[in-house]
Amino acid sequence: MRHGRFDAVRGAKGKWSWQSPPPDSWECAYRGDTQWKVRCHTGPYKHVGIFPEQQGHWHFLEKNLSPGDKYLNLFAYTGAASLAAAAKGADVYHVEASSSVVNRAARNAKISGIDTIRWVRDDAVKFAERELRRGRKYDGISMDPPAFGRSEGGKIWRPEDKLAGLVRTAAELLNPEGFLVLNTYSPAVTLDDMVKLCEKSGLKCTDAGMLGVHTADGRRLNLSNYTVGRR
Ligand SMILES: C[S@@+](CC[C@H](N)C(=O)[O-])C[C@H]1O[C@@H](n2cnc3c(N)ncnc32)[C@H](O)[C@@H]1O
Repeated sequence: MRHGRFDAVRGAKGKWSWQSPPPDSWECAYRGDTQWKVRCHTGPYKHVGIFPEQQGHWHFLEKNLSPGDKYLNLFAYTGAASLAAAAKGADVYHVEASSSVVNRAARNAKISGIDTIRWVRDDAVKFAERELRRGRKYDGISMDPPAFGRSEGGKIWRPEDKLAGLVRTAAELLNPEGFLVLNTYSPAVTLDDMVKLCEKSGLKCTDAGMLGVHTADGRRLNLSNYTVGRR
């Protein structure tokens, strides 16, 4: 049964209509190997604060990170992957260009009882390049670059322009045995492109596929391509 519907009106902005309206905001609790919470709300954009199809990604982090590992979450949004990694005991760097979105992520950490995440309000490409110059290394990196984005300074992000360079930088930031989880909702980047990007950066592609959800009537909705690359 459909409870609500979002119709785009202008660009990414649009309108919600409801059979029975949800509260102004609500808590979504994740209970897997790790446990944490995200506060959701609807607004003029279709995103509510969590992407349920990322569940496979959270499971991967739970299995592949150990306490004390260094984990970098680029384009980190409201922090679901950061929360899973921090709850596993990893040392998490959460990088997001929008200050208001970082504030939402910090509130999610607070309601989850997590106070170990380092919040970085910055452009993902600039931060990753700076980390490389500083000689930093990570045991795991996730990145979910948007189809189109704007960093605080107004610089425009398009994955087709910058993704190859960013994957190369991420590959160099990884410790031996480290992993990169790359996913994107951008229609401009195919699964084949993503596998090639990983391989050209010297990573071995160990998994690739689609992140999706199951509908109440048993269908599978695939929403985003992903690849996992390892050093
Ligand atoms: C698709 S969302 C990521 C969702 C995330 N994977 C999750 O499951 O919660 C992309 C995020 O990238 C941010 N963003 C866009 N351009 C950016 C940039 N140049 N640097 C850092 N973050 C950026 C957006 O503000 C947005 O929060």
